[in-house]
Amino acid sequence: MHCFLSKYTIFAPKNYNDFDMEERNKTLGEFIIEKQEEFKYSSGELSRIINSIRLAAKVVNYKVNKAGLVDIIGAAGEQNIQGEDQQKLDVYANEVFIQNLINREIVCGIASEENDDFITVQGSDNGHNNKYVVLMDPLDGSSNIDVNVSVGTIFSVYRRVTPIGTPVKSEDFLQPGVNQVAAGYVIYGTSTMIVYTTGHGVNGFTLNPAIGTFYLSHPNMTFKKDGHIYSINEGNYTHFPQGVKDYIKYCQTDEEDRPYTSRYIGSLVSDIHRNMIKGGIYIYPTSAKAPKGKLRLLYECNPMAFIAEQAGGKASDGMNRIMEIEPTELHQRVPFFCGSYNMVEKAEEFMMKAKLSKY
Ligand code: AHG
Ligand code: MN
Ligand code: MN
Repeated sequence: MHCFLSKYTIFAPKNYNDFDMEERNKTLGEFIIEKQEEFKYSSGELSRIINSIRLAAKVVNYKVNKAGLVDIIGAAGEQNIQGEDQQKLDVYANEVFIQNLINREIVCGIASEENDDFITVQGSDNGHNNKYVVLMDPLDGSSNIDVNVSVGTIFSVYRRVTPIGTPVKSEDFLQPGVNQVAAGYVIYGTSTMIVYTTGHGVNGFTLNPAIGTFYLSHPNMTFKKDGHIYSINEGNYTHFPQGVKDYIKYCQTDEEDRPYTSRYIGSLVSDIHRNMIKGGIYIYPTSAKAPKGKLRLLYECNPMAFIAEQAGGKASDGMNRIMEIEPTELHQRVPFFCGSYNMVEKAEEFMMKAKLSKY
């Protein structure tokens, strides 16, 4: 149907004008200040950490968006402690997040997927007077950079367990996920978002790149109880445990609301983000190639599990709740099942059935 606009036509800007949306919505900065009042005994340190991550995210976002124009694509020529090739952007993002946290003197320690060991942070007074440690995967899905596909950053914050004033020790980092005080991710996608939780639900903020401000665009994000997407690298099928094979067959069976749709980006942040919005399950199981799984408990699984649970979803290693696992080493890997509650529960049922049928 053709539509002619006369000179008397009045547009309805409410639906179309994105400034409206931004005026209506809080900025991340305003949100942080508002929420700080909820933590009665907070000294503002946690808010400053989120603030510093917000700033680092903008810097990394700027670089990610220039990939192809500046010399940031490709391998850096080094491997990290886990024997994985580091991309130039892995190294860059790592530096930006670490420097931002160190310069602001707001944490006493940092552990990163890209560093062999944790970093002890000393204040300009030579003290160790901050109470939080940050763990992070500075660039997740970095093999996607060269092909222009979404990547992310994941972070996780804990209160230290050793006394304030002393240098941090490994036990400050090797805490179970249930001890997290905040966790979140940045997604550098068609738009750039920060999604995070401090244990009071999950909120998402979208960057307006023109003015460099994050706006609350996704308040109270939740996982649908049941979803229709399963995300797993099926190329490894023959190496999967029997329970995972059986669950995949279940997803593909033409019954009730199935078959489900298969979607796999190969960037945990992007896969989980999509599944949280649409409803789905992400699985990275053990396999002959990765006998302990591939994803890292402290940098990837715990923060994503905290977000998933806060959004009404579920995260497990196929048998046990991810956030209750007692970590034994910094770069520990675990199998990961994360997403819509009923889907993860169903996958666990298959894992259990397969385990019992072995005996
Ligand atoms: P990273 O880039 O931080 O090493 O993480 C990559 C991870 C994760 O983001 C993704 O889901 C998974 O590796 C993909 O692995 P496969 O290529 O083996 O499927
Ligand atoms: Mn990763
Ligand atoms: Mn990474």
